[in-house]
Amino acid sequence: MVPTVFTAALNGVEALPVRVEVAVRRGTPMIGFVGLAPASARECRERFRSAASQLGLRVPGLRITVNLAPADLRKDGAAFDLPVATAVLAGAGHVPPERARKWALVGELGLDGTVRRVRGALPIALRLRTERAIDGLIVPEENLAETRAAAGLRVLGTRSLAQVLGFLRGDNELTSASEYRGVSPPPPDAATDYSEVAGQETAKRVLTIAAAGGHNVLLRGPPGVGKTMLARALPTILPLLSPPQALEVTTVHSVAGRLAPGGGLLERSPFRAPHHTVTSAGLVGGGAPVRPGEISLAHHGVLFLDEVTEFRAPVLEALRLPLEEGEVWISRAGGHVRFPARFLLVAAMNPCACGRLSPGAHGCSCGPAQVRRHSAKLSSPFLDRVDLHLDVPPLDWNELRAAGGPPQSPGIRRRVLEARERAARRNGSGRATNSRIAPRDLASACRLDGPADEWLGRVSSRHGLGARACHRLLRVSRTIADLECSDRVSREHVAEALQFRHRSLPVRSG
Ligand SMILES: Nc1ncnc2c1ncn2[C@@H]1O[C@H](COP(=O)(O)OP(=O)(O)OP(=O)(O)O)[C@@H](O)[C@H]1O
Ligand SMILES: [Mg+2]
Repeated sequence: MVPTVFTAALNGVEALPVRVEVAVRRGTPMIGFVGLAPASARECRERFRSAASQLGLRVPGLRITVNLAPADLRKDGAAFDLPVATAVLAGAGHVPPERARKWALVGELGLDGTVRRVRGALPIALRLRTERAIDGLIVPEENLAETRAAAGLRVLGTRSLAQVLGFLRGDNELTSASEYRGVSPPPPDAATDYSEVAGQETAKRVLTIAAAGGHNVLLRGPPGVGKTMLARALPTILPLLSPPQALEVTTVHSVAGRLAPGGGLLERSPFRAPHHTVTSAGLVGGGAPVRPGEISLAHHGVLFLDEVTEFRAPVLEALRLPLEEGEVWISRAGGHVRFPARFLLVAAMNPCACGRLSPGAHGCSCGPAQVRRHSAKLSSPFLDRVDLHLDVPPLDWNELRAAGGPPQSPGIRRRVLEARERAARRNGSGRATNSRIAPRDLASACRLDGPADEWLGRVSSRHGLGARACHRLLRVSRTIADLECSDRVSREHVAEALQFRHRSLPVRSG
């Protein structure tokens, strides 16, 4: 019988089962790999040799071939260290092969034989639930908490290769997921409550609409008016993730290696604010091995692009497709990898290079050409994907003085949740938020009352609104009506939505 253990390889957010088989012959001592990426094989061999010699385990006079099947599946990373070590030691007679073949293992080996956490333990556990050939999965102890969501699979945690060998020989037990304490989740958000933001009632309203309907937002305004502050307070009005969303979000963060050691399921919507120097790979995903980018880490949460005009144009253009599709496909040698990326985009910018251009305000020192150059940094296809555009005005002293008072965010969050539930009941779970209502469903989802219908007809011809702009207007109006608990979309709802369409700022002449 060929000594075998199970493990799994990651392909995007999916895991695929892999068998590690070992052939042992007498001959010149060596360990050769088949089916593992060459760099991973080299490193895996070195870590195994060091860990085994620390434990006093030797494989003398044996020529060992390790095969990772299926061979055509790309296998990168260090998670194969532990299964490979276990299979080789089973081949050399250090553990009973019939016990080893009943377990799937993942883990990176330290040179001293400690087992370190790996990326993707959650999707691996979820996938192996249906694997009949195994009794369970052994993961590094720091990965145990995240695997609790894979109900139905027996998952055990280990800290070292020695513990695994002892367990397979029947000498010791391993920690089970229910015994493992893990780390406590981070304390509830110490994030800014909206009561701390003075004035800016329209901006708060826009962010409420955005949170309720999943509409992308662009905040434009002079420096120091609170744009960053407003956007950073957004998580305080977003509802907690539903259980399926929590599973998806945790899976992406697990694959990216972004979960805290010992951390479990994520329950809050993620908020990601990459710096404007981020690369395309950092934003949409990439690298070797392929990792999810910021847009996927923001899945079911917020992607905040502060100072959006400073991002390089190709980086912003890379967002266009994911903004439409809610996912991203990344090419790599041997195929494509998919990562989910359904996020709420919030962008903030100054209106011009000096930052002081605003309707009715004075003191802007930029010439018309300069202002045009500044605005042109955002392409029309990019702006087209933003439903809500707002010019955030400067504050006066009286408004600033009025900051504080009782918390506002919990009340707003409740209204957001109610509006979302209303929308989900109407739209169906596939297209839960209003921003995703398909054009063919718009007429039935956004039923306008008589005056609204007639008024929209007049307004659209006066402003020359195209089909896309009208659809956007309807979706935002629908969300405003949902926030008012109204089945019908009225003229007032459409009028409010119309305020937030894209407009160029008036440039001073000469
Ligand atoms: N509306 C506000 N209420 C209370 N404090 C505010 C407000 N606006 C600005 N501030 C104060 O000014 C600081 C800067 O605000 P913020 O960074 O949000 O401005 P901004 O609009 O993003 O400016 P910039 O365009 O330079 O990025 C805040 O940390 C806060 O102390
Ligand atoms: Mg700012």
